Amino acid sequence: MIEQLRKDFPLLHTHVDEQPICYFDSAATTQKPQSVINAVNKFYQQDNANVHRGAHTLSAAATSHYESIRGKLARFLNVTPEEIVWTKGATDSLNLIAYGLSEKLTQDDVILVSPLEHHANIVPWQQAALKTGAKLEVLPVNEQGILELENAKRLIHKVKPKILSICHASNALGNIHDVAALIEVAKQHDTITVIDGAQSLLHLRPDLSAMGCDFFVFSAHKTLGPTGLGGLFGRYELLNNMPVYQTGGEMIERVSFGGTTFRDAPGKFEPGTPNISGVIGFGAALDYLNAIDANALADYEQNLYQYLVSALQKIDGIKIWGDTIHNIGIVSFTYKDEHHFDIATFLNTYGVAVRSGHHCTQPLMAHLSLQGTVRVSLAFYNSYQDVDTLIDALKNTIDMLEE
Ligand SMILES: Cc1ncc(COP(=O)(O)O)c(C=O)c1O
Repeated sequence: MIEQLRKDFPLLHTHVDEQPICYFDSAATTQKPQSVINAVNKFYQQDNANVHRGAHTLSAAATSHYESIRGKLARFLNVTPEEIVWTKGATDSLNLIAYGLSEKLTQDDVILVSPLEHHANIVPWQQAALKTGAKLEVLPVNEQGILELENAKRLIHKVKPKILSICHASNALGNIHDVAALIEVAKQHDTITVIDGAQSLLHLRPDLSAMGCDFFVFSAHKTLGPTGLGGLFGRYELLNNMPVYQTGGEMIERVSFGGTTFRDAPGKFEPGTPNISGVIGFGAALDYLNAIDANALADYEQNLYQYLVSALQKIDGIKIWGDTIHNIGIVSFTYKDEHHFDIATFLNTYGVAVRSGHHCTQPLMAHLSLQGTVRVSLAFYNSYQDVDTLIDALKNTIDMLEE
């Protein structure tokens, strides 16, 4: 099955400096299947028009195609289309939510995040705290960077946060969090729950109604879709009652110099011309995912991940950080005191594309007393051959570093 699927991704069959590419940076952005590329091309070549505006045929067709994808995504997430807002990405979504919820915060309130958050799920809350006097607190994690679930639940009971915002899966370590368990506890204190699903949408395909969160954010480009597009789910009543974030055309009901009234959600959060081609490309990405057996893909990814972990564990001096049991397929490792950037640069000479650095999680790196790690992030289109190439390249890299 995987060999067949790999054929759908043109970039996987290219070369870097004459070496076949082994792409292990899917946590940064996934590769795109040909059907997504075709959908974007087709839109510009045959269907291009602005949405929601024209009486002409092209505009009407673009509008109905564009709006149908909101419905497709809502079905994918098991929520309703009115609860989906398109944004520029997960960062934009988190800023919108933090801004919108700020008006509920006072200096007596606590915003709770985890130390594993991407900066996008820290800085907007820090700003909200600065503006309102609320306190930003962090959940407990152990020395491996693994959330301590029972202690986390205890802390939620203790501080009764106004907002709990946590990633479903960590982009730096790959750890999967039991967000449903945390949400259940948070609900006992009327805490508003925000789940950063940037890394989980592709690998875990969450059912948001079952999860029970109030908000969920994602980026299309980490889920086979185009860059520059993302979105959020918001429980309708909460979403609709939030203040507008950015203003302008499209999001209004009536404008006069006496004042302006706004549309209901989701329209009131979508000013200006949207990313139409991005949404259409993302629609093709969802079609692609809907056509594949999700369980079979998840099994394949997990087996490949365990194969990678055990190969790395056999190399003396390699330390893997994080939870290797509940993981979306990310290995973050260090090798003795060698610099992560040197390792990644050597690997690149073998066509192996990995990420090195702090992965936009500086507080986590500080907690682990690290400058950074080498991050290998898998997707279902990686092969066992890719992993073998990585391991061989890493052994050669280590030989070079040890010389
Ligand atoms: C967990 C997580 N949250 C948020 C983001 C921000 O996503 P974007 O840069 O697409 O806005 C990322 C990106 O790496 C991420 O991994």
